[in-house]
This record gives sequence, structure tokens and C-alpha cells, in this order.
Amino acid sequence: MIKDNLPSFGLTSKDFGEDFTWGVSTAAYQIEGAYNLHNKGASIWDTFTSKKGNIHNNEHGQVAVDFYHKYKEDILLMKAMYIKHFRFSLSWSRILPNGIGAINNEGIDFYNKLINFCLEHGLTPWVTLYHWDLPEALQQKGGWANREIIDWFKAYVSICCKAFGDRVKNWMVLNEPMVFTGAGYYLGVHAPGKKGLKQFLPAVHHAVLCQAEGGRIVRSLVANANVGTTFSCSQITPYSSKPKDILAASKADALLNRLFIEPSLGMGYPTENVSVLKQIEKYSKPGDVENSIFEFDFIGIQNYTREVVKHNYFIPYIQARIVKASKRAVKTTLMDWEVYPPSIYNMIKKFNAYKGVHKILITENGAAFTDTLLNNSVHDVDRLQYLQNYLQQVKKAQNEGLKVDGYFVWTFTDNFEWAEGYKPRFGLVYVDFKTQKRILKSSGRWFKKFLS
Ligand code: BGC
Repeated sequence: MIKDNLPSFGLTSKDFGEDFTWGVSTAAYQIEGAYNLHNKGASIWDTFTSKKGNIHNNEHGQVAVDFYHKYKEDILLMKAMYIKHFRFSLSWSRILPNGIGAINNEGIDFYNKLINFCLEHGLTPWVTLYHWDLPEALQQKGGWANREIIDWFKAYVSICCKAFGDRVKNWMVLNEPMVFTGAGYYLGVHAPGKKGLKQFLPAVHHAVLCQAEGGRIVRSLVANANVGTTFSCSQITPYSSKPKDILAASKADALLNRLFIEPSLGMGYPTENVSVLKQIEKYSKPGDVENSIFEFDFIGIQNYTREVVKHNYFIPYIQARIVKASKRAVKTTLMDWEVYPPSIYNMIKKFNAYKGVHKILITENGAAFTDTLLNNSVHDVDRLQYLQNYLQQVKKAQNEGLKVDGYFVWTFTDNFEWAEGYKPRFGLVYVDFKTQKRILKSSGRWFKKFLS
């Protein structure tokens, strides 16, 4: 085995204070596998991945990293790494194979076993109710574009709270609604592969309502709940100081960073920046503005990169386009995302500025780089330095008195990275996808030392 030469950092987890929450984040479809075992129903990701051309190498999450069978091994490894908080999501179609109606007790059993095993081993579960894997049966009825999703979602959330709320106290309603509506219902590059405004605008509105309704249900059914929801966010930098680029950047910011949090705070949609959002009105009913509001206990922000945005006349509705990192001569990850640590600091600052945001946790941050397995070791210095540099920025925010109460690495093991398949590896733990063997990377060794 190669002797790790872990670059020094100068900070330990203790420097962030006793109450700071340290954890790792995952999502059901990306890790569980067991896609049709024990009565699980199909999700939109099962369907989307089954169509040729949607995913890199036509890969899918049917087995993923087999967390369904290997959860004990993974949790014991987390424990050995001093990880105390584990964020995972529930698969809606494992619990309700048809999205509504009959409950699948085997699905409930799986999550009960998982939650109990976490607790027995000193790990606190942080549950995301929806991380993109809508039951296919509901997509057949229009999915997020159908207003009935509000009732479907409320029923599902109630079932989860009643089943697990005696032991799970930390809940996140949605994972990155901008990504699942934007990539899934506007660009068509994620499940369910829909394109255009007609699907996107109602999906946005219904997600905003579900975000708040879900929060209300958790609060009413779970004693001492800590209720949050999560948002993707990136610093947006105008390509130049030309007014047109500055305007383009403000539109991208409204869409990528503000669209979902602002209605929940009672600020409405950012229509003054992106006028096409006024069309959401068509899908609105009396009372929706009030019903979109919910006072979350915490907001989870998920940051990876920054975006540089340029005016472009041909891009509909926003006349703005992202300038790819690979075209900008900057350091990038395998996702072609710029490595830009100040982005996380600026996002902490941005979300701190909202009145009504009580607590902020970084619920995802991490990076995919090419990992080389050599003599049973992966010396992933790039990832390690990425994490250290981003954490320096989190510390800087904390030193300045900004709210930031936790940090979860994306992610624990390598997994299925959506449209990119298994190529980008984000894990602290390497997975040999053929044998499902887990190997701690240098970044994982460092994180362990950092937490110890
Ligand atoms: C998502 C994860 C995803 C990660 C890296 C986030 O957008 O919540 O599911 O794997 O970023 O792309």
C-alpha cells in the first residue's frame, strides 16, 4: 500500500465548534440498487435509464453500489471514520410502488433496518424525502406538472413521518428543486426527459407548494422535528462588465439561486428579473402564495462551483448563457465544473442575507476527479485539496459571524452520477463497480483524521 502523504491543512473539525454537524450525503437512486426487489415500484429514473442514449454508456442504477444489501458495511465504515451524521433519501416507489395507495411493508422494513442500524452505531439519520426518483406511475399521470402531485406528495410524506418520525428528527423535504425541474422538465436531460416551458412552469409551481406542504406535515407529525429543505446554488459571475452581461448574470442568478427559496420566504417568484416566470400565474390558485410559505428550521445549501454567464440573444426567455469552465482556462473537475472555493463562501453569505433563514447547513459539497486505483489505494489529492479549500471558505464565513452550522460531503461512496453514469466518481470511498468492494481513498483517510 502507498503511504499516504496527506497535504496539511491547519484546521480540524474542532475548530468549527462543538455544535457543528459533520456528515456525508447520499441519495437512494444513486446507491441502493435493488431496483425491483421486494415489491419496489419503478421510478422515473428506472424508466429514463432504460431508454438508449439518455445516459453515458447507457448505464443505470439497477444495482448501483448495492447499498440495499451493503448498508451495514457502509455504516460501519462511516463509524470507523468518525462520521456522526448520515444524509440519505427515501425511495418513494419503494415505499409506495404506485406512488399512492398500498404501502409496501418491505420498503418500510428496509428503511427501518437502515435507520435502526444507524442509531445503534451512533449515526444520526438525516432524511431527504424526495431526491428525484418520482414513482413512474405518477409520471404517467403527468408527474410534477400535474397539480395532483400536491396531494400525492402530502400522503407520501405523512406515511414517512408516521413510519420513521419516532426515530428520525432531521428531515429535508426536497433535494434541489431547480435541478429536478430544470433538467427533468425543461432541458430533458434528466428523468422524466420532458422539454419546454409547458411542463417546466407548472412543475416549478407544484414543487414550491410541495416544499412548504411537506415542511408543514413533518412539523405537525414529528415531535421535535428539525425541518429543512435543500437548494443547489452557485456564485454567478458576469462574463464582462458590459451591462448586457451583468443583466444576463442577474437573470441566471434569479433562476438558479432564487427561484425556490424566495416564494418559501413570502417574497414570491423573481419575476422582475425573469419575466417569463409571470406565466406561473396560469397554474396558480387562490391561496397559493400563502401556501408556498413555510418557516424552515434550516436551509441546506449545496454548492460545487461558480458559473460565468454571458449575454446571448438566442437563448430564449433569459438571453443568458453559461460559459463552460473548459472554455475559460480554469481548473475543473470531471463534470467540467470550475474549482472555485470562494463560491461556497459567497453562497453562505447570500443565503444569510435572507430574513427568515434561521440556520444554514452545507448539505452537499464535493468533487469528481479521475481516480486511479494503484496497489489497492486511491491517492486522490485533487479531491482532498478541493475539500480542504472549500472548508477554508466555510471557516472564513463562520469567522465573520455568518450562520453556517454543518457540512456534509457529497458523497460517501462512488455512485451513479445521473446522466453521467458511473464515470464521475465523487466518493470518499472508492467502489469497484464489478465486485462492489469498497476502498478508502486518501480523501477519506484525511476526512477521518480531520474528524477524529
Ligand atoms: C445532487 C446529487 C449529485 C451531485 C453531483 C447534486 O446536484 O443532489 O444527486 O450527484 O450534485 O452532481
